[in-house]
Amino acid sequence: MYIIKLNAIESTNGYLKELTAKKKLENFTVVVAEQQTKGRGQMGTVWLSEEGKNLTFSLLVNFDDFNISNQFYLSMAVSLGVLTTLKSLTNTSFYIKWPNDILAEKDKIAGILIENIIGGHLIKQSIIGIGLNVNQVAFCNTIKDVTSLKNISGKFTDKEMLLKKIVLEIKHFVNYINKREFKQLKKMYLMRLFKLNMPSMFIDKDEKLFLGKIIDVSNDGKLVVELEDETTRKFSLKEIKFASR
Ligand code: BTN
Repeated sequence: MYIIKLNAIESTNGYLKELTAKKKLENFTVVVAEQQTKGRGQMGTVWLSEEGKNLTFSLLVNFDDFNISNQFYLSMAVSLGVLTTLKSLTNTSFYIKWPNDILAEKDKIAGILIENIIGGHLIKQSIIGIGLNVNQVAFCNTIKDVTSLKNISGKFTDKEMLLKKIVLEIKHFVNYINKREFKQLKKMYLMRLFKLNMPSMFIDKDEKLFLGKIIDVSNDGKLVVELEDETTRKFSLKEIKFASR
């Protein structure tokens, strides 16, 4: 496993993207940093992490024949890789909150930001950025509903051991993509999906509250929700959020 260790960098995703544009890197090359000065989250948010306490890293995955239309399967594979590793370490219940947040019970413990390098209709390379709260115990009040491995298990975790385990698990699940076993991947993802088949309150893009039940995720990664009148609607990330935890 080729691991590039940095003390500080703006963003490991940005660093890995620039590096792979300049030179050929081994598949599953990892860039890990003790601190990110401009850590990026989904939908233009920032990713905050206390220096030295957590895992903030990016992983390069090369593909030969991975169609853009299947890109959500990579989110599934990565989420399952992170979740499976965490599950092997402690007894807490972990869930995947669509599309790819990892929850410990109801609190976010890890976030995933995938950036793809595209050629035609194929994903040539993916930069998989993962922020996982490991040994940080206090979080600033502006960040709600977050936790860390230390907070849930009470134990200190060796970050390097954890990093290697996660990369191996992600490799395992990425293999399903390479073998085109998409159905199996989706089945495993749905088994771990937060609030699947449970009536829940949501907020739509016009800030309107509505009751619904997550019943599926479409092949293009949209959330499939059954509404009160038993019709189904598909939502993209910007169109829906949970009203409560
Ligand atoms: C999210 O939940 O919003 C996604 C967070 C992703 C954070 C990771 S930390 C390592 C990598 N580098 C970044 O700038 N972001 C990702």
